[in-house]
Amino acid sequence: MKKMKRIWALLLTAATILSLLAGCASTPTQPAGDNNAPPTIQPNEPVNPYPDALVIAEQGMFSAGGTVLTSDGTFDVSNYYMSREGSTSHVDHANVFYQIPAEESGLPMVFLHGYGQSRMGWMTTPDGRPGWSDLFLRMGHSVFLIDQPRRGEAGQTSVAGTISTEPSDQTWYTQFRIGTYLDNTFTYNEGSQFPTGEDVLDQFFRQMTPDTAMDSANGDQNIDTTVVAQAVAATIDEVYARTGKDSVLVTHSQGGMPGWETARYTDHIAAIVAIEPGMAPMVDSEDYAALLEKNIPVTFYYGDYIGEEFPDVPAAGMWGMMASSADAFTAAYTAAGGSSTVVHLPEEGITGNDHFMFQDLNNDVIADHVEAWIQNHAGVSGGTAPQAPAAPENESGKTLVVYYSATGSTEAVAGYIANATGGDTFAITPAEPYSSADLNWTDSESRVSREHDDPSLRTMELTETTVDGWEDYDTVFIGYPIWWGIAAWPVDNFINANDFTGKTVIPFCTSSSSGLGESGELLAELAGTGDWQEGQRFRSSVAEADVVEWVNGLNLQ
Ligand SMILES: Cc1cc2nc3c(=O)[nH]c(=O)nc-3n(C[C@H](O)[C@H](O)[C@H](O)COP(=O)(O)O)c2cc1C
Repeated sequence: MKKMKRIWALLLTAATILSLLAGCASTPTQPAGDNNAPPTIQPNEPVNPYPDALVIAEQGMFSAGGTVLTSDGTFDVSNYYMSREGSTSHVDHANVFYQIPAEESGLPMVFLHGYGQSRMGWMTTPDGRPGWSDLFLRMGHSVFLIDQPRRGEAGQTSVAGTISTEPSDQTWYTQFRIGTYLDNTFTYNEGSQFPTGEDVLDQFFRQMTPDTAMDSANGDQNIDTTVVAQAVAATIDEVYARTGKDSVLVTHSQGGMPGWETARYTDHIAAIVAIEPGMAPMVDSEDYAALLEKNIPVTFYYGDYIGEEFPDVPAAGMWGMMASSADAFTAAYTAAGGSSTVVHLPEEGITGNDHFMFQDLNNDVIADHVEAWIQNHAGVSGGTAPQAPAAPENESGKTLVVYYSATGSTEAVAGYIANATGGDTFAITPAEPYSSADLNWTDSESRVSREHDDPSLRTMELTETTVDGWEDYDTVFIGYPIWWGIAAWPVDNFINANDFTGKTVIPFCTSSSSGLGESGELLAELAGTGDWQEGQRFRSSVAEADVVEWVNGLNLQ
């Protein structure tokens, strides 16, 4: 963990230098104005798209974890105002604000902020729209919002820090990939989803808050990861004690690192959603071992403007390096039997997002995406995942949903269809599963690129091609992701191995933006048997309700 902290500090220093040096290379778009005097905050626009009241059944606050400092000597009550002998201080705990919705249906979610932040960032947006805590409350999750030890309302510390007054807004604005400070102007990255306006920036910068144990606010990262991790674990244990449920831990940025370490100190993490974490755990670390041993499903989310292809975005290279640590983790973790996905939002057709994707204009779209992942993965580790709605009784047992899914989106849709029809599911699994590196279509040497270029490589062994009771199914849904405009080819190998005579076959797919195209027809041709229907394409993070509406419209017997 110390090694990881050093790397993070190094990267931040590098990024700070890069961001300060790179000004002349950047292309400004959408100037947001430079202001020295704080602007007047306008009343919020009526932007709340949720006309129904959000009903909270219970809310409150508590502290979790922490230690007690004790000084030597005997407290002198006659000099009580000055005496510090024989005294105690309660320090290094997490401060937790929680809300439980009236219509609770999902797992509790524990939110841990990043560097220079507090829980506020999850609770609202700088332009006054609902934050993620409101959005997930509306989806039926209780939310537990942490101020980590030595931050915000948990400021009581065992280590004396120095609060720096050195101005640094411009550094963080750049490091957070919102844009670049050029010619005395805050510019936005092209196509940015960050809300615009001087009032917005004023609100955003005032959201930042220092660490009471840190030496310097300007890029120094001497945050005690273990102290934070233990307090987060204490929070999660408290949530379990109160609700009997494991929690989905959502971390951001610097919060990512203590988030991984938290797995060492509690058995009640249902899943971890890491929003642009500083780093993924090293494969040989204790954190990695704990995550794997406890079989905790993990997902990483990265926004836009990451990688060498964005020379005008000073922090793009550094974030590319950090995102690659997620790929390395995922490759090892999945190979070892764990569940990990890396979501690069632009690959899902969700563009313009920065490091604060949960405050961006499309924060609802990303929340839906995260929710689909939670529905699909949380509970795998023995947590009390929400029960799926009771499936209609499938008396004749005649519907089967066969699917291939590389990163979970098609799997989620398959689950929705199975729920709606009362059908069974069958996952197509390549004997050699695809790692993140294998799926990297931007790398011309990756496995999927080579298979794309040479169709003879697409024939592969599957772990299973025979479905128990295949002859009893008369309706078969076939699901797949779109790869380069057609069905992902692991499906071909299932189709080749089965006879569809007498069956109604309904293709469905998920994709970032492409339609179903000819994918269904090509599969029908390959099968040569069966009554193939037109089929349906869904976006990667489609809501269950939309899938159910489509299924109902099919008027299946
Ligand atoms: C190799 C590869 C090729 C892809 N090609 C396309 C494409 O041509 N059009 C598109 O809209 N999305 C494309 N995508 C995005 C996927 O179709 C989309 O993310 C899908 O929902 C993933 O489903 P899964 O999570 O079930 O694997 C591609 C993804 C990969 C990995």
